[in-house]
Amino acid sequence: MRRSKALAVGALAGAAWLTKRAIGRRINAGSPLWPLPALETPVSGYSPRRWIPALIVSRTEPADGVLSLTLESAELPAWTPGAHVDVQLPSGLVRQYSLCGDPSEQGRYTIAVRLVEDGRGGSREAHAQLVEGAELPVRPPRNRFPLEPADSYAFVAGGIGITPVLPMLRAATAAGTAWTLLYGGRSLASMPFATELAATYGDRVTLVPEDEAGLPDLSPLAALGPDTLVYCCGPAPLMAAVEAAVPESVPVHLERFTPAASGSDARAFTVELHRSGRLVEVAAEESALTAVRRELPNTPYSCEQGFCGTCQHRVLSGTVDHRDTLLTDGEREDSMLLCVSRAATDHLVLDL
Ligand code: FES
Repeated sequence: MRRSKALAVGALAGAAWLTKRAIGRRINAGSPLWPLPALETPVSGYSPRRWIPALIVSRTEPADGVLSLTLESAELPAWTPGAHVDVQLPSGLVRQYSLCGDPSEQGRYTIAVRLVEDGRGGSREAHAQLVEGAELPVRPPRNRFPLEPADSYAFVAGGIGITPVLPMLRAATAAGTAWTLLYGGRSLASMPFATELAATYGDRVTLVPEDEAGLPDLSPLAALGPDTLVYCCGPAPLMAAVEAAVPESVPVHLERFTPAASGSDARAFTVELHRSGRLVEVAAEESALTAVRRELPNTPYSCEQGFCGTCQHRVLSGTVDHRDTLLTDGEREDSMLLCVSRAATDHLVLDL
């Protein structure tokens, strides 16, 4: 058993500089990976909603269009590989970034931000305004992408998706666990930490810059055995391709940073706010979150795309049309994400 696992992992490591393959086939959306603020256990007595003022002590550019920030504060809680934090930008925008530093460094977080010129503005603001010496409020980490014990790991990352994987590589190495990393990106210059990874970990790391080698060949993943855990973070097509390539017996852990599908079949419905009894009409072209915030402006939210979990609320009655890929089946039984999910019936009652 041990021998066959090593061979399978070795096969993945050898899959360098591969030919382009069609990706896009999508199977089961996979397990949600982030804990939700309302449900998680506070870390070391910290409230998950509390903002902690941290100081930016270092700003570097580990790749074209990528900013890396190191934050320090004695109040920063401990964290584990796969965790992410909310940060509050100077304008008040809240964004989520994976922690990519070393968990053993108490009071210190490192995040990386890729500039998305046509995005919603958070990365542009971060690149323009987050400088050494500035304060950046952060919330205690949450982790829905935890590294579980395994006999071996196959990590797959695309672009900025390398960030949650970095501390996993350190942890797996420290534990003496076999692992490989398949890391793709548009070009080597655009792939943060690529050079350092190759220098540190040698042939366990396979770099696949698309401009030189095309898209990563995921076919070796089909040879993995059930004692290998697959961890993947990157663009949605990459994660869908990884899910499709891995045998059903092999657990796949995905970290999603891309919006959930919204659909074009939205229709109007009514939300009843149980605590006040007020009724809120949700128009077909707006989200339940937008409608609820008209009545309750302090209703928390962050990504508005169904992947941070900040807007999760309990549903007391009615049937939800879940349109996220974050919640577990258990969570879907009595809660919904207001920013993307809608009603399958005409009326929902929320515990708000
Ligand atoms: Fe992030 Fe709804 S605001 S999931």
